[in-house]
Amino acid sequence: MPPRVLLAACEALPRGDGDEDILLPALSRLGFDADWIVWDDPGNAAAEADLVMLRATWDYSARRAEFLRWCESVPRLRNFANVVRWNTDKAYLLELAGAGLSVVPTQLVAPGGQPEWPEDDFVVKPSVGAGSRGAKRFSAGAMADAREHLAALHDGGYSVLVQPYQSDVDTHGETAMVFIGGRYSHAFTKGAMLGGSAVDASGLFVSERLEVADPGAALRSFAEDAMDAAASVLGMPRTDLLYARVDVVRGADGAPTLLEFELAEPSLGLKLAGERAADRLAAAVGAVV
Ligand SMILES: Nc1ncnc2c1ncn2[C@@H]1O[C@H](COP(=O)(O)OP(=O)(O)O)[C@@H](O)[C@H]1O
Ligand SMILES: [Mg+2]
Repeated sequence: MPPRVLLAACEALPRGDGDEDILLPALSRLGFDADWIVWDDPGNAAAEADLVMLRATWDYSARRAEFLRWCESVPRLRNFANVVRWNTDKAYLLELAGAGLSVVPTQLVAPGGQPEWPEDDFVVKPSVGAGSRGAKRFSAGAMADAREHLAALHDGGYSVLVQPYQSDVDTHGETAMVFIGGRYSHAFTKGAMLGGSAVDASGLFVSERLEVADPGAALRSFAEDAMDAAASVLGMPRTDLLYARVDVVRGADGAPTLLEFELAEPSLGLKLAGERAADRLAAAVGAVV
């Protein structure tokens, strides 16, 4: 029997958002029997699969504990469950900053706590979240609204991140650099998300404007440092990360700085990057199955 590879999605988007449409044929070309499952469907075949890859499990943020229990129950999950646990709480940003990486200045505010409110525009967002949901931008004058948003997230049980708004996002967007099997594969840019873009019909993510990009030497080398820092904090070789996405903006001084390091269920921009990127991911699956 051909080895079985399952891509995990969620009930609202049981075959993802279309980005993996070229991955399934790439896996088939390498002789895999590849298909989708819904992660919380009790009848799914995750336990028997030769590899389960998280792809579009974007409904976990309100029930992360349940999601992590499921991840831990899957014998051959990639990325590994401990990586998913670490990465699904943006508190990891503070660890990467502690490891010497330049990270967007981040305050982590547990329920009951209050931040030191930034002087200029800032962002308030849940520490567990995806698809830009719950992320809001405030101007320094809109403190009452910001306090209200903080309280609403706290009431929902979330810890909260408060960050200065990175205005480079408005001009250049963020640059997402994708690594497959620990090696750089491709990059794309994503336009600013907090300007009132519409939420997708699934309700799970704010619609995005993506474009293929050449990140240039400075951002590329920063992404390598970010990969090394994450591997070192996780205590594993970076080649153990089947996929990773490093989201970078340029800070006020123009230097690359980390906005997000995605190891759980990032969109990999495969469709934008094309068949060769899908082939690289399929080959990386082949290297571990
Ligand atoms: N500090 C920030 N400055 C500018 N834009 C931000 C900031 N934090 C978040 N955003 C915007 O909100 C979006 C979602 O935030 P992000 O931290 O990437 O969380 P997630 O993608 O997991 O929902 C980003 O893509 C970016 O456009
Ligand atoms: Mg993001």
